[in-house]
Amino acid sequence: MDPERLVHLQAEETGVPPGYPARALAELDNSPVSSWSEDQWVEFAVHSQCTSLSQFLHGEQGALLCTARLVEAVPWIDAKYYGATQVVDEARHVEAFSRYLDEKMPTTYPINDNLRSLIDQILGDSRWDIVYLGMQVVIEGLALAAFGLMLGTTREPLLKELIRYVMADEARHVAFGILSLQEVYRDLSGDELRERQEFAYEACEHMRRRTLNAELWPAFGVSNAEVEAMLPRTRSQQRLQHLLFSKIVPNCKKLGLLDHRDGWLRDRFTEMGIIQYEDWSIDAEELTIDSAIAAEST
Ligand SMILES: [Fe+2]
Ligand SMILES: [Fe+2]
Repeated sequence: MDPERLVHLQAEETGVPPGYPARALAELDNSPVSSWSEDQWVEFAVHSQCTSLSQFLHGEQGALLCTARLVEAVPWIDAKYYGATQVVDEARHVEAFSRYLDEKMPTTYPINDNLRSLIDQILGDSRWDIVYLGMQVVIEGLALAAFGLMLGTTREPLLKELIRYVMADEARHVAFGILSLQEVYRDLSGDELRERQEFAYEACEHMRRRTLNAELWPAFGVSNAEVEAMLPRTRSQQRLQHLLFSKIVPNCKKLGLLDHRDGWLRDRFTEMGIIQYEDWSIDAEELTIDSAIAAEST
């Protein structure tokens, strides 16, 4: 089915208009998108999905490189075995998203600058636990929530199936990352933990900026500066961005990173508006736009 028809169909079935939640920007005063026609929002919705799928693809390519790096760097043989199976998973994910984009979608977007610099930073770090923390906790944690949301919105059966398979793998990868790190982080010195807190925060900041979809807006004649300036005034858009961190925050807590050093990371996550997810245990498959609203109103 062509992507535009699918957008119409989804809107009819869900009652959520095409282009939502970005569409909420249209209601603000002096908004550059207030005069967009219905057709423009449909086109935007299609391209917004292309951007998401493209960043999934680039993230999977990064995961492939990072897990190969882990196999090389991690000191235990069992972790090497596990890492090797993960390399195979990631190669399959790259192939799946790449084919889906090629065959089903009108275009592929280049890698987001923030995602690229985070992946480069992870790959360039000689500490193996940083590879786990950056890739399995932050990048894959955000991906799990983003996959879950796409699973909940799309009415395309092939895409649903593809995402379900990938999510089952990623949930395993994230869980293994947490288990491996929990043991190691118990024995780190205060200064070493402090470095991990700072790294986790910077990685989350990269991911927050990645979710602004900087590669998408200029193609529709809107500058990223305009979008960033409007964002704090649109609660729906912001809540959805926060929801993407609903897997990362509880996992940082499990690793002891939130409260070390008088809660330094807790304070950063509070500033980012994502601390309300610290005790969340909702499965990524269950996430919807409404979960964001429920979480923020409590
Ligand atoms: Fe993956
Ligand atoms: Fe993975």
